[in-house]
Amino acid sequence: MTFRPTRRILRILERDRKVMLTTTRVPYPFVADSIKGDYAFDIEGNKFIDFTSFISVYNFGEGPREAVRNAVKSQSEKLTHPAFYDFYCAQPVEYAEKLLTMFPKGFGRVFFSNSGTEANEAALKFSRLFTGRQYTIAFYNSFHGRTMGSLGLTSSKPVQRRHFGPFNSVVHAPYAYCYRCPFGREYGSCGLECVDYIRKNTLGKDISGKEACAIFIEPVQGEGGIVVPPAEFVKGVRKIADENGILLVSDEVQAGYMRTGKFLALDNFGVKADIYTLAKAAGGGLPIGITVTRTSLGDIPAGSHSNTFGGNLASIAAAGATLDYVRKNTESIRRKSRENGALIMKRLSEMHERYEIVGDVRGIGMMFGVELVKDKRSKAPAVMEVDTILKSCFENGLLLLPAGVSTIRIMPPLTMSSQNIERGLDIFEKAIKAANSRAGS
Ligand SMILES: Cc1ncc(COP(=O)(O)O)c(C=O)c1O
Repeated sequence: MTFRPTRRILRILERDRKVMLTTTRVPYPFVADSIKGDYAFDIEGNKFIDFTSFISVYNFGEGPREAVRNAVKSQSEKLTHPAFYDFYCAQPVEYAEKLLTMFPKGFGRVFFSNSGTEANEAALKFSRLFTGRQYTIAFYNSFHGRTMGSLGLTSSKPVQRRHFGPFNSVVHAPYAYCYRCPFGREYGSCGLECVDYIRKNTLGKDISGKEACAIFIEPVQGEGGIVVPPAEFVKGVRKIADENGILLVSDEVQAGYMRTGKFLALDNFGVKADIYTLAKAAGGGLPIGITVTRTSLGDIPAGSHSNTFGGNLASIAAAGATLDYVRKNTESIRRKSRENGALIMKRLSEMHERYEIVGDVRGIGMMFGVELVKDKRSKAPAVMEVDTILKSCFENGLLLLPAGVSTIRIMPPLTMSSQNIERGLDIFEKAIKAANSRAGS
């Protein structure tokens, strides 16, 4: 298939440009209509293999879809808005009880909101309440959301922060982005200088250990370019938090909910957080934000945090049906995502060998990034090539999203058929090969 936008598609783009404030958009004209099986369809019935999970939301493809639809339909016939943070209601409580069975022992309190950024806002406020401290530590290259509190933590792209500061209660430290080590070191012989930095500079010079309420960490940086840190880094961060009475907040909004093969992505590193945040896939396509705290941290003062729509029954019904699906199928989801993950890593590693513009391939579970460079030696980001490759893939029937400065994110539904994974990778490799030849000529 070679894609040509019809007049109907072009007209929607034009109307969008007129009436919508500009946000971020892919450089190709995908106008969403529906999803079925492993495919996404546009309004003209064109079919695309989905390597995006619609920005990490449809992690399980067709699996829970019918149950989600039925649960939302039957709930919406009775009531969708129970004013849960004013009145009482059984369904959000039942869902919270079920959700907590997926968490390590000792996690017993839940707060509902409507998005990832709100889940992090809540974690930020709770951390201050629990510790009585003001400062927060976050990492460069991170993404935690765009409302003002979360945006103070976010630092993946300058455009996201420009004009919105000052954000004066957050200090940033380097993440273990080993391909572009901020200290110019090689992993294995680096002595984990990034962990030392936090101890010596963040807590030695920027603020003192007694002033920080929380360290926010993405177990795998998502928007920053799918950066998978070494386990020692994550363990080192946990140790620093422990030594200083700082809470560790794991932002699982993108990497969580089975994406890395485990329900909680932080579990891949043998580390537990004090607060976890979830959103995206948890709602099965409806908006939800979830903040889960360690029971021993206690409660927050009544009235200190709340919202109108948290515990919305349509979202809770969708989240409940998605969770039931995951609990019932955990082993098969894991097996399928291990199989697909191995296949993707093998193909990406081959591309890394074959093509000069593929600077780095990395991933865990079913969360992959392909970082494009002008050449392997200089590692100069091949920014323009990203758009060209995304467009070419789209025109040949594959949906992809970018991440970071020059990384292409590969995050299909975990349960996609191996044939469609192969088909998608064939389309992707063809586009990489063409871009590589152009770069070499
Ligand atoms: C790790 C992480 N945290 C928070 C957010 C913000 O979530 P939302 O867009 O639902 O506010 C995102 C969104 O991409 C994310 O990837």
